[in-house]
Amino acid sequence: MTESVDRLFVHCRQLVTLTDGDPTGPRRGDAMRRLGVIDDGAVAVREGRIVAVGTTAEIRAAYDAPEELDLDGFVVLPGFVDCHTHPVFAATREREFHMRCAGADYMAIAAAGGGILSSMRAVRAASLAQLTERTERHLWRFLEHGITTVEAKGGYGLSLVDEQKSMQALEQAGAGVPLLLRRTFLGAHEFPPEYRDDRDEYVRIVCDEMIPSLAPLADYCDVFAEPGVFTREQSERVLRAARAAGLRLRVHADEIQPMGGTEMAVALGADSVDHLGQISDAGIAALAGSDTVGVLLPGTIFFLGKSGYAPARRMIEAGCAVALATDFNPGSSHTQSMTMIHTIACTQMHMSVEECVVASTINPAFSLQLDHEVGTLHPGKRCDLAVLDIASVDAIGYAFGGNPVVMTVKDGLPVVANVADHNPDWFADGAVLDEEWEGGEE
Ligand code: NIG
Ligand code: FE
Repeated sequence: MTESVDRLFVHCRQLVTLTDGDPTGPRRGDAMRRLGVIDDGAVAVREGRIVAVGTTAEIRAAYDAPEELDLDGFVVLPGFVDCHTHPVFAATREREFHMRCAGADYMAIAAAGGGILSSMRAVRAASLAQLTERTERHLWRFLEHGITTVEAKGGYGLSLVDEQKSMQALEQAGAGVPLLLRRTFLGAHEFPPEYRDDRDEYVRIVCDEMIPSLAPLADYCDVFAEPGVFTREQSERVLRAARAAGLRLRVHADEIQPMGGTEMAVALGADSVDHLGQISDAGIAALAGSDTVGVLLPGTIFFLGKSGYAPARRMIEAGCAVALATDFNPGSSHTQSMTMIHTIACTQMHMSVEECVVASTINPAFSLQLDHEVGTLHPGKRCDLAVLDIASVDAIGYAFGGNPVVMTVKDGLPVVANVADHNPDWFADGAVLDEEWEGGEE
C-alpha cells in the first residue's frame, strides 16, 4: 500500500536534507559539519509540506503522486535563508563603488552626506508605488538565487513618514512574491541631515514616535551600532524601546571599529548580532554562551575592499551559532547571490562547505524563529528547495561568479526556473516543463 501525496521530486543527484541533526535549534561546532546527503534523493510533498525524504526507490515504494518532477543531475538543498538584507531602496549607488575603488573610505563617504544618506534622498523622493515596484523586483531576485526566506529591513527613510512608506512598500511588495518574509524596522540606520547636530533628539523621535507607530508593520528592530553612528548608549535606548513595543531585536555591531556591540546584543537577548569583523574575545565568549546568532556578512568586506573578515573559525570553534547572509543593499554589498557568499566565506574565512550550508539554512532560520518551518528537509516543514546545476555539494562555492541555481521551489511548487543559462539537455527531454513552471516569474 502506498500513501498518496501531491508531488514527488525524484532523482536528485544529491539531496542535502540536514535531517541527521535536530529539526529545530541552532547548530554549533561539530553539528555544523553534517549535511545528511542522500544520493539519488527524492522528496514527497503534500499541501506544500514535506512528507518524507529518502532515496528515489524508497520514496516511490512508499508514496504515489499524480505528478513527478525529475531532478536528474542536480544538487538539491533546503531553500537558502537570508537573514540580513536591505532591499527597500529606490536607486543604486555605483558611483560610490568606484569612489571607493579609487581610494575613498566608506565611512568618509557617509560622513560627507553620501552613503546611506544618498539612499535616503532617493527613498524620500520615491512614491509608495515606485518604492514598492523596486522592492518587488529585488524580492524576485532572491528567489532566482535559491533564497526562499528573507529578513528585509527598511532604514533608508529616516523619518516617520519615510520609514512608514518603506515598511508599507515592503508589505505590498511581499504580498506579490512567494517568499517567506520577516520585516525589520531600522530607523536607527543613520542620522538624517535634520538631526545631525542634535542626535539625541533623533534617538528620541525613533523611540517615542517611530517605534510605537511602526511596530505593527515590523517583526524586528535593528540598529547600526558603530562609533560615529549610534553609540552604545543610544543603541540600547532604541533597542529597549523596541522591545517594549513588542519587537524582537537584531543589531549591526562590531563592523568597522569595536564597541562592545556584541556583548550589548547578547545582554539584551537579541536574536542576531550581525557583521562582527571586529568582534572581541569577550564578544565571542558572550555569543558562544547565548542563543544569539552571529550573522557574518563577508560580501560586505569583499565589496568594500576592506580587510577584517569576521573570525569565523574562532567563532565556530568557540561554539557560537554562526549564520551567513548577503547584506544585500545598494551601498556596501550589492549582491543577492548566496552561493557567492559561500565562495567568499570559504576562501576568506576558511569555512567548510558543510558549515556554509548550515550557516545559510537552519542557523539563520533559527535566528528568525522560523526553524520549525524551514531550514532543513524534516517532514512537516515547508517544501522550499534550491536546485543547483553543479556536480556535487562541494561545488556550491566553487562555481563562483555565475548563478548555479536552475530552479527554486517554494511550498512545493517551482516558482522560478532560470532556464536560459543552464543545461538545455535537461529541458530537452521534456520531463519537467509544465504549466506551473511558466507561471511563477514575471
Ligand atoms: O549592513 N552597516 C550599515 N548598513 C548597511 C549598509 C547600508 C548602506 O551602505 O547603504 C550594511 O552594510
Ligand atoms: Fe546591513
